[in-house]
Amino acid sequence: MRTLRGRAPVVAATLVAAVFGYAVHAAAQGSARAAEDFKPSVGQEGKDVIWVPTPQALVEQMLRMAETRPTDYVIDLGSGDGRTVITAAKKFGARALGIEYNADMVELSKRAARDEGVAARTQFIRGDIFKTSFSEATVLTLYLLPSLNLKLRPTILEMKPGTRIVSHAFDMAEWKPDQTANVEGRTAYLWIVPAKVEGTWRWESASGPRAYEATFRQEFQTFEGTAKADNRPLKVTDGRLQGETLSFTLGEGDSLREFTGRVRGTRIEGTMKAPGSGTPATWVATRVK
Ligand SMILES: C[S@@+](CC[C@H](N)C(=O)[O-])C[C@H]1O[C@@H](n2cnc3c(N)ncnc32)[C@H](O)[C@@H]1O
Repeated sequence: MRTLRGRAPVVAATLVAAVFGYAVHAAAQGSARAAEDFKPSVGQEGKDVIWVPTPQALVEQMLRMAETRPTDYVIDLGSGDGRTVITAAKKFGARALGIEYNADMVELSKRAARDEGVAARTQFIRGDIFKTSFSEATVLTLYLLPSLNLKLRPTILEMKPGTRIVSHAFDMAEWKPDQTANVEGRTAYLWIVPAKVEGTWRWESASGPRAYEATFRQEFQTFEGTAKADNRPLKVTDGRLQGETLSFTLGEGDSLREFTGRVRGTRIEGTMKAPGSGTPATWVATRVK
């Protein structure tokens, strides 16, 4: 059985369930049977991780951190009793989907969504999160395990830039969060899927050095690199991405310039200026490699 390591109450609940025989047998999961009188128990077996619900206050905090809006499509991976999906629809007006392996939990969630009056904006499907597409989500919520977050990470990084990912308790290792929050001693992490800027970009300027070429090395939402301005070598520093929005500095001392922009596939459009100067110039770069 996979447990949520480091969570004493969960371990205790799991042991109690095992000793007294309350545990839901794996064999019952995945069956089409979904009894009306099914009662979930905290710590019950799950395919890759047991069921432990996120406290309601933290569910709301996670959705707030993601700045969830009515235009969003929220997907909860391993949706348990459906609380995150239902809250996203009820309190944030979003459309939301829960993907859950346990068929009983799926039916329980559908009943709860109907009771809460959000059946039209919510959907629950019985599926394996590693076999079901979630690429359409604009907000993705997780309460899984560190190893499962890492297994999902490559797929998450291929999602549309700007997609917000929120995870209860578990991080993404080297991919540092853009924001963290604590609610009643529990931690929530937020990441914003960064655009891809690794490679070589060229642009021209009407004033100062005319021809720029910069090569960026990207690590998740940060990047650095080297550049040439009219063949003079410069360093790229402080490169940061928030979805499609990027910023970096080029050069040093009097020749230092601050760049901001928006990444659109193979183009970056933005403005650049010297620190403290009030007159930004526009720049439009294209990817050459
Ligand atoms: C820790 S609970 C979190 C429930 C809910 N997201 C919340 O925060 O309240 C994890 C859930 O993932 C489900 N689960 C485990 N492995 C799964 C898999 N491979 N595919 C879909 N659901 C899975 C479990 O049945 C359980 O309901």
